[in-house]
Amino acid sequence: MGKVSWRIAMLLFMLITMLVYAVAHSFDSELSSTGGIRLWGGGEVEEEEEEAEEVSETEQFPAWRSGAGAGKIPVNVDSFGAVGDGVADDTPAFVSAWEKACSLKNAVFLVPEQGVYKVNATKFKGPCQDRLIIQIGGTIVAPEEPSSWDPKNPRVWLFFSNLVGARIQGGGVIDGSGSKWWASSCKINKTNPCRGAPTALTIDSSSKIRVKRLTIQSAQQMHFAISRSKSVLLSGIRVKSPPDSPNTDGIHISESSEVTIQNCRIGTGDDCISIVNASSNIKMKNIECGPGHGISIGSLGKDNSVAVVTGIVLDTATLTGTANGLRIKTWQGGSGYVRAVRFQNVRMNDVENPIIIDQFYCDSPTTCKNQFFHHFTQTGAVKISLVMYENISGTSRTSKAMNFACSDTVPCSNIVLNNINLESENGTVETSCNCAMGFDYGFVRPEANCLRNEDGSHCNGGSSIHRRKHEPVHSEL
Ligand SMILES: *[C@@H]1O[C@H](CO)[C@@H](O)[C@H](O)[C@H]1NC(C)=O
Ligand SMILES: *[C@@H]1O[C@H](CO)[C@@H](O)[C@H](O)[C@H]1NC(C)=O
Ligand SMILES: *[C@@H]1O[C@H](CO)[C@@H](O)[C@H](O)[C@H]1NC(C)=O
Ligand SMILES: *[C@@H]1O[C@H](CO)[C@@H](O)[C@H](O)[C@H]1NC(C)=O
Ligand SMILES: *[C@@H]1O[C@H](CO)[C@@H](O)[C@H](O)[C@H]1NC(C)=O
Repeated sequence: MGKVSWRIAMLLFMLITMLVYAVAHSFDSELSSTGGIRLWGGGEVEEEEEEAEEVSETEQFPAWRSGAGAGKIPVNVDSFGAVGDGVADDTPAFVSAWEKACSLKNAVFLVPEQGVYKVNATKFKGPCQDRLIIQIGGTIVAPEEPSSWDPKNPRVWLFFSNLVGARIQGGGVIDGSGSKWWASSCKINKTNPCRGAPTALTIDSSSKIRVKRLTIQSAQQMHFAISRSKSVLLSGIRVKSPPDSPNTDGIHISESSEVTIQNCRIGTGDDCISIVNASSNIKMKNIECGPGHGISIGSLGKDNSVAVVTGIVLDTATLTGTANGLRIKTWQGGSGYVRAVRFQNVRMNDVENPIIIDQFYCDSPTTCKNQFFHHFTQTGAVKISLVMYENISGTSRTSKAMNFACSDTVPCSNIVLNNINLESENGTVETSCNCAMGFDYGFVRPEANCLRNEDGSHCNGGSSIHRRKHEPVHSEL
């Protein structure tokens, strides 16, 4: 008893030290050196307010003479010929207004309230002059018809790139008119070819960006993607799409670091938030998710790719009626690692798989083969370690409230559970482990002794290769 608790105490100490170092320290030091947005102060997400830059929505065109927004130069899409009746093609007006706004210091690219602006796939490219504000008060709507979509931009609709220090705000709506895209998805009708649809809003290759108070709805595919960017703050983002809309991730982060997502409400047909390859120091705080597939790291490692994701924190979230809660999903055959992840203070309401690590992920029209004996060599996987779950409570719709389905060749390590209380309305819940090592402490229900007991004989380290008893193959179709 004494020996065991000493080992646990030591392990705990090391773990917490590593987590705190890996996540909090790197965040603090990198951000203070940028002098940009302070994303991390004393554990709280703070938004440094610069009220002088706020654009009051009652004081729009023609000029801000005094007070809020003083010194700002409005560049109104209406002045460039936008009609805003939801019918006329306002793309050329948006393109001209963007060129103007981008070329001026202190410009406000203004999409006025009330208007409904139909805009085709458009690239809003930087670099722009300093202090650009993109003020979306009205609605931007995409053309509905997939067959007449611009073939030069098959995967993007509103695409912002190469911006530094810009803000996107205004309380408006970005509406992807996705219903015909959903109907033409191979997930909805198997006779359709499987091809990707546009992401509604993208921020790419940018830094020090803030996006706040926007609704993004009915995306053709993903709603909002952040790619190849650094130091991005999203707050007050609302995502709305039906639960049966295919692949409509809410917020998707790739190849980005220092991203904070706070006070967001996401209901959609796929992951509320997904974090993939080459992303680090991502903090999510005050998130409401549902309907949807939960909050996911992954999928990672598809087509034998390399993926690295580190320093992820989710603090304070409610998931309601989602297919998954907190999920890490990787394909077989990938490589790289997921390390230093904390999920804390999460409430589950009727979630199918509240806590899940799935290293046998397969989301393909054909069943993925289990690749254990491919050319007599075992296939790799994205290594998962240092994942902490703390203060997670609520209800599970299935009996497997916690499922750690890790790779036999690259087992999960240092999975830590503290203060977990998951139950189901009509039965007992349990924890399932495959090649998952770690420990739990404090109150943990369902009990998770399998994290300590995993005998490991069929996991990497055992000398002989033998086939697993149950081959978990998951499919999202
Ligand atoms: C926008 O797309 C429509 C078809 O949906 C097309 O007729 C129109 O020419 C496009 N506008 C521009 C500026 O490319
Ligand atoms: C699926 O798509 C095919 C071809 O586009 C169409 O003929 C069929 O009616 C569709 N099925 C359903 C159930 O919508
Ligand atoms: C993963 O990210 C790295 C670094 O940005 C990139 O070079 C690589 O292409 C990405 N891999 C995939 C599969 O997207
Ligand atoms: C978990 O909950 C306890 C009790 O409410 C609280 O004291 C502790 O700070 C929480 N842990 C985290 C990481 O927020
Ligand atoms: C609860 O009951 C429903 C309906 O009978 C069933 O589908 C579900 O699996 C049960 N849940 C558990 C955790 O046993």
